[in-house]
Amino acid sequence: MIVLGMESSCDETSAAVIRFEGGRREILSNIVASQIEIHRLYGGVVPEIASRAHIEAVSGITYRALEEAGVTLSDVGCVAVTSHPGLIGALLVGVNFAKSLAFSHGIPLVAVNHVKAHVAAAYLEEPTLEPPFLALVISGGHTSFYRVDSYTDFCEIGGTRDDAAGEAFDKIGRVIGMPYPAGAAMDKLAYEGNPSAVKLPSPALVGETLDFSFSGLKTSALNYINGQRQKGIEPSHEDLTASYTKVIVDAIVKKTDAALRQTGAKTLVLAGGVAANSHIRHGLEVLCEKHGVRFCKPSLSLCSDNAAMVAAAGYFEYLDGNFADTSLNASALD
Ligand code: KG4
Ligand code: ZN
Repeated sequence: MIVLGMESSCDETSAAVIRFEGGRREILSNIVASQIEIHRLYGGVVPEIASRAHIEAVSGITYRALEEAGVTLSDVGCVAVTSHPGLIGALLVGVNFAKSLAFSHGIPLVAVNHVKAHVAAAYLEEPTLEPPFLALVISGGHTSFYRVDSYTDFCEIGGTRDDAAGEAFDKIGRVIGMPYPAGAAMDKLAYEGNPSAVKLPSPALVGETLDFSFSGLKTSALNYINGQRQKGIEPSHEDLTASYTKVIVDAIVKKTDAALRQTGAKTLVLAGGVAANSHIRHGLEVLCEKHGVRFCKPSLSLCSDNAAMVAAAGYFEYLDGNFADTSLNASALD
């Protein structure tokens, strides 16, 4: 079956065409129109601007995805669209476009949870991957552990109580002059500094809980930068970034260790934009090796927001018969 996936929950408009045949999943196209350049000027995503940019891009992107895949709408067996969570105005663009497309062409429509879609990216590259497993989603909006019981049933077993890891990287990156989003640049810069140079608090909450809090870490790093600047010193960006990255990686590894022990999971799936972070990938690789756990991490192009992952999640909603009708609405919340 051919699935057309559509994603517009934040600042990427994306459409993808995936062919599912037996156990095979083939990405025929995965077009992503990023708005990063537009939002960079403001140091973060401006929701109203994002909605307008999605409106401008959505139609062209969708037809490009079909064209590149060499299919037409009559070949499409299911339209899958991200309906939640995300920026409400941005989500509404994708949802309404997908609804119109599906119902005007008589194609079944399914609604997809963006976080589940990040996890489903793993199915596209790991044909033998099957639930149950433990998933860790780290993105601009999420830092959460899920016990994935089936292709469509997830249970959140821990996560951040305030900011997400991606936000934490972006915020401090911005303060030291990096353009938005700073995650990838901080990843590189962290190799240049001393990870023990700056003392920072761990975002891992104390005890057996699988929860994090990144707000205290962000404030400590800000206070350190401001304190140094008040003395007329510009702190070493390399040392700060290396130290900041180290406490984040250590916290993620520590809580993943606890999550693996608590769930007895034999497979860990890493997902979300921050899953592209090479330090986190390495730390989790070492941890999984130690536990003899299979570690599935998507390639970088499938970590950040894209519609191929939405099509993958949508396929399993379709198999479960979870169809949406014209009453489908977007929701900002999980
Ligand atoms: O999943 P995503 O594309 O969008 C959301 O659903 O939030 O994640 C975007 C986040 C941004 O905060 C960005 O800075 C971060 O992913 N990111 C990274 C890296 N690449 C992207 N963070 C750390 N290291 C990276 N290499
Ligand atoms: Zn995302």
